Amino acid sequence: MIELGANLSDRSPSRHLTIRKQDFSPSGIVYTEFFAFLDQHLRPTRYFEIGTHLGNSLKAFRCDAVCVDPEFKLAQDVLSGRRQTHFFQMTSDDFFAEQDLQAILKGPPDICFLDGMHRAEYLLRDFYNTERACGPGSVIFMHDCLPSNFRMTLRTHEMGDDNEGPWKHAWTGDVWKIVPLLKAHRPDLDIKIFDCAPTGLVAVSNLDPGSTKLKDMYLSLVGELRALDLEKHTIERLWCEVPVVSSRSLVEFPEDLTLFVDARSRL
Ligand SMILES: C[S@@+](CC[C@H](N)C(=O)[O-])C[C@H]1O[C@@H](n2cnc3c(N)ncnc32)[C@H](O)[C@@H]1O
Repeated sequence: MIELGANLSDRSPSRHLTIRKQDFSPSGIVYTEFFAFLDQHLRPTRYFEIGTHLGNSLKAFRCDAVCVDPEFKLAQDVLSGRRQTHFFQMTSDDFFAEQDLQAILKGPPDICFLDGMHRAEYLLRDFYNTERACGPGSVIFMHDCLPSNFRMTLRTHEMGDDNEGPWKHAWTGDVWKIVPLLKAHRPDLDIKIFDCAPTGLVAVSNLDPGSTKLKDMYLSLVGELRALDLEKHTIERLWCEVPVVSSRSLVEFPEDLTLFVDARSRL
């Protein structure tokens, strides 16, 4: 049930929060459509993504872009409307070891999308390496942190059966673990989840590019990630971990985006 404002004149975050009592599956708009909506309303000028594959997420943003993927499978025009697009066909670890993101983009990225290897320890490294190249107004989006069943969260991809409908191909891996981990160790971050189909979209703002805490604690954090277990943690608890925001509701009231995406430099 979407709590779409007992009082619509009250422009507050609570009117966009999604409260679900039975069905814990993200039923908002598809994440790439949500990105196109963000592009239209936030008008970012620099975009960074890890994991490009066919180019569907890249296509949603029309600004200068840096894309990292060890195996690009571009199957469409992702260049139209864009001044610069930089492709790095390598792993994200190699990219951060060899390249300077801010130098390539000539400034910090406004929007980052982490959608590379679907294993929690990879996403942890992608997060802290990306944060280091961000500015105070940057937002990091992370994909697949709101799985709707256990099958999706396996560390190797297994197809679902027909009962899962169009999402039987969906694979989130265990990246959901990053949300409770960041909550526990980086309470300074502002974390929200949009209910975008098929597997949610986490937005992290109030970033601190100078923070080395996650990198310094990496080995012990990997131990914590291993110990997290979805059967114990439960999908229901994931939905309560941080505010889940209705993407449909925001599309209806785009002026309220500022309540959730703290891209100050762009607004
Ligand atoms: C789910 S796809 C990305 C989909 C794309 N972001 C979209 O929304 O259309 C994941 C991609 O991550 C890439 N990938 C796998 N391991 C990676 C790594 N270590 N570093 C960067 N990308 C990686 C894969 O090659 C694959 O193309």
